[in-house]
Amino acid sequence: MLIADSQVSRLYGPRVAEELEAAGHQVDLLEFPAGEWNKSRDQWTSLTDQMLAAAVGRDAVVLGLGGGVSGDLAGFVAATYMRGLPVVQIPTTLLAMLDSSVGGKTGVDTEAGKNLVGAFHHPALVVIDPEVLGTLPRLQRLAGLAEGIKTAAILDLDLWNWIEERAGELVDGDLDVQSELIRRTVAHKADVVAGDPAEAGRRAILNFGHTVGHAIETLEGYTVLHGEAVAAGMRVEARLGEGLGVTEVGTARRIADLLAACGLDREWEMERRHDEIASAMELDKKSRAARPHCVLLARIGEVAIGPDGYTTPLDDDVLEGRLADALRPASEP
Ligand SMILES: NC(=O)c1ccc[n+]([C@@H]2O[C@H](COP(=O)([O-])OP(=O)(O)OC[C@H]3O[C@@H](n4cnc5c(N)ncnc54)[C@H](O)[C@@H]3O)[C@@H](O)[C@H]2O)c1
Ligand SMILES: [Zn+2]
Repeated sequence: MLIADSQVSRLYGPRVAEELEAAGHQVDLLEFPAGEWNKSRDQWTSLTDQMLAAAVGRDAVVLGLGGGVSGDLAGFVAATYMRGLPVVQIPTTLLAMLDSSVGGKTGVDTEAGKNLVGAFHHPALVVIDPEVLGTLPRLQRLAGLAEGIKTAAILDLDLWNWIEERAGELVDGDLDVQSELIRRTVAHKADVVAGDPAEAGRRAILNFGHTVGHAIETLEGYTVLHGEAVAAGMRVEARLGEGLGVTEVGTARRIADLLAACGLDREWEMERRHDEIASAMELDKKSRAARPHCVLLARIGEVAIGPDGYTTPLDDDVLEGRLADALRPASEP
């Protein structure tokens, strides 16, 4: 069962299907409309109904072809159909190659927030062909860079320095430089996930930038690209860390500068919407007892570990005071 969104299906669906058929497999191409708002329970229902109507059995394999939306949705179909079929991820966006295709998180969005209904279902195989990035719109490519920058920020100062040096080539879409970024980022992601597959502990560090990032996505009704929201989230969370005395001073500036060099400097008037952002953060799935938790950096390449482990609970006074301060535009010192 080859599952792809309409756009990716048009570009690459028939070719992938033909190659699989040439290798002796029977292939059904299932298409759903492209767009984050289709990572939904409705599309999950439609896809599983189509599979039931086609009498697909437990001997089937699901292939998720496309960006994070296709991968998360196809993965969730695979996780749940007849209590679970194997899934192969074939990511076609930079974000999906760097991040979402590896790690086994699958699911759909709901009115209450993103990814709130889902399952862990690790792929049997991930196939990455960076050449398909040639057809990806520029802003999508840049948004994908955010997850590579995040990985470097939490784990790897050498990778961070390399991204700073190569930012121009990455922005221009150089195939070799992008391929190296994918190799190095996926190696980190696979390593973290292998050590903590169901996010009981250390895996949470991958959520740097995501507490605020998810709040922005929720407020914007999913019209914002995930990577753009995570970029804004990293800027804010780095400032928050500095404000709390946890993050080395100067880190937030360096993060804001690299993101700006990669065209990821949209602000969304966050300062004005402080109250809305704070309440959306309280709904985020990382919150326990309605207290949002946030991954803070010690410095570039290293996450801070506090009394609560890899994430820091944000009390009301932090949400009222320091968060408001961290939401100021990056251009303000
Ligand atoms: N599972 C995880 O661990 C994880 C991690 C990060 C993000 N995500 C999820 O990923 C989703 C975002 O993924 P995304 O940014 O890849 O978005 P996406 O899947 O919506 O893809 C973006 C757009 O690009 C098109 N597209 C994809 N590949 C293309 C190609 N090669 N050429 C031309 N067009 C192409 C798609 O049709 C779509 O319109 C979010 O829902 C986010 O929550 C999941
Ligand atoms: Zn992400």
